[in-house]
Amino acid sequence: MNLILLGPPGAGKGTQAERLCDAFNLVQLSTGDMLREEVKSGSELGRTAKEIMERGDLVPDDLMIAMIAGRIDTGNGGDGVILDGFPRTTAQAEALDAMLVEKGLKIDRVVQITVDEDAVVERISGRFSCAECGAGYHDSFKQPKQEGVCDNCGATEFNRRADDNAETVRSRLEAYREQTAPILPYYEGRGSLQAVDGMGSIDDVFGRIKAAIKGV
Ligand code: AP5
Ligand code: MG
Repeated sequence: MNLILLGPPGAGKGTQAERLCDAFNLVQLSTGDMLREEVKSGSELGRTAKEIMERGDLVPDDLMIAMIAGRIDTGNGGDGVILDGFPRTTAQAEALDAMLVEKGLKIDRVVQITVDEDAVVERISGRFSCAECGAGYHDSFKQPKQEGVCDNCGATEFNRRADDNAETVRSRLEAYREQTAPILPYYEGRGSLQAVDGMGSIDDVFGRIKAAIKGV
């Protein structure tokens, strides 16, 4: 099963992708996580992407398409992939189609997670993740079971993202509205789009996503 998770910043794409990977043995391909790795490593792509990400703008399509191209099948190993944060523009959606045809793969469902913009700001400002394994947490909504210790790997160092501030979140929301939301009709026209209400607890949203992919 191959899925795309679409939704604005803070919709819960990463949170739900983690749960879906465990439940369905899928591999998460998050272009945001890949870019943050590039920034950390100081690569040429990372140096180009750093400022763009800190402004809350989108990294140019050609760079993103080249970055994901090699991972569409090599990222596998499970029973399919979850694309989290890609595609984000019409050009990326078209390039993805070409890559899938070439590999003989198809997207089974595009899950659009919808949320209130006010909730997004609250979710993003409380977000942190494990410095070791990347597991995601939240100050109010998802604390580690033992304070200061990652549930997943036991590490005790955590990170907050450089783009998680109120000003950058506004730019990221604008980029979503202007550049990403226009690809929704592209998938709707093929009958693969399922909108899911992303408000409510993490468990509730997970239940709705499972219902939306039932029968795939
Ligand atoms: P990316 O990393 O993809 O960020 P984003 O789309 O802004 O989305 P987020 O990761 O912020 O949110 P999320 O939906 O994953 O929410 P999460 O599950 O963490 O991209 C970052 C940047 O990279 C972009 O701005 C761009 O510059 C660049 N980029 C990436 N891909 C690109 C592409 N394809 N093209 C061009 N540029 C690209 O949840 C948020 C918080 O809320 C967490 O703390 C979580 O615990 C909590 N939470 C989640 N669900 C719930 C719930 N139901 N109730 C309460 N709390 C919840
Ligand atoms: Mg994310």
